[in-house]
Amino acid sequence: MSATGETKAMTPPDIRMRKGQTPLVCLTAYTTPIARLVDRHCDIVLVGDSVGMVLHGLSSTLGVTLDMMIMHGQAVRRGLVRALMVVDLPFGSYEESPEQAFRNAARLMAETGCAAVKLEGGQTMAETIRFLAARGVPVMAHVGLTPQAVNTLGGYRVQGRGDDAERIRRDAGAVTKAGAFSVVLEKVPEPLAKRITAEIAVPTIGIGASLACDGQILVSDDMLGLFSSFRPKFVKRYAELGDQADAAIAAYAADVRERRFPAAEHLYANETKAGGVT
Ligand code: KIV
Repeated sequence: MSATGETKAMTPPDIRMRKGQTPLVCLTAYTTPIARLVDRHCDIVLVGDSVGMVLHGLSSTLGVTLDMMIMHGQAVRRGLVRALMVVDLPFGSYEESPEQAFRNAARLMAETGCAAVKLEGGQTMAETIRFLAARGVPVMAHVGLTPQAVNTLGGYRVQGRGDDAERIRRDAGAVTKAGAFSVVLEKVPEPLAKRITAEIAVPTIGIGASLACDGQILVSDDMLGLFSSFRPKFVKRYAELGDQADAAIAAYAADVRERRFPAAEHLYANETKAGGVT
């Protein structure tokens, strides 16, 4: 709470200061109702480009556009009070140059009200992160498995095994030095996540990267059982809402076919009742 009694939203410096403290709780949201549900439990709500696969049925995140991120960002903004809102820069909107990244990050911030952006990449993105951070754009970095690079990585494999660990360590170090306020570590072995978390000065947010991280993130639709096209090992299902929705829709269909719905309580009387209830 602030001095005026209003709930104060989390800021990038608040997140940065949580390094080594109580674990940061992070989830994705793409819509107002889900944003309202996750807000009071989360420190960070990410409008991830996973929206392309989860809500739009795309086969990867590569087809997600800046306009899609803006539309979903605006919807999420309306549902948040407390959590820090971070929006993903989608594939093709930041890799060309720091100037291109700034132009599109500024649009995301101005049009959605988000306080930070996330982008994928390590050493190759360090210059861009430095450029953005110096110009008022807080950046959450994302290293390890970077889904926008699915074609160059050859799939959604674990990253940083064996000799490859050095590459991911250098990536995490480079984005931290460049000014990222936190780093998502995706699908890397536990010893590497432990080492990076001990080495870098900002919080690591793990997804498939073990308890060693300073926080955890999951795609809400994955942990709620609403997205079932595939299920990575790192997803824990906390509910089976997809199954519940299927049962509810089947019950509705049966009621309509058997003429059980609508029932008397769902009908409108011909006359307005005293008291004006309609
Ligand atoms: O797009 C996304 O949802 C993400 C998280 C899974 C980290 O990048």
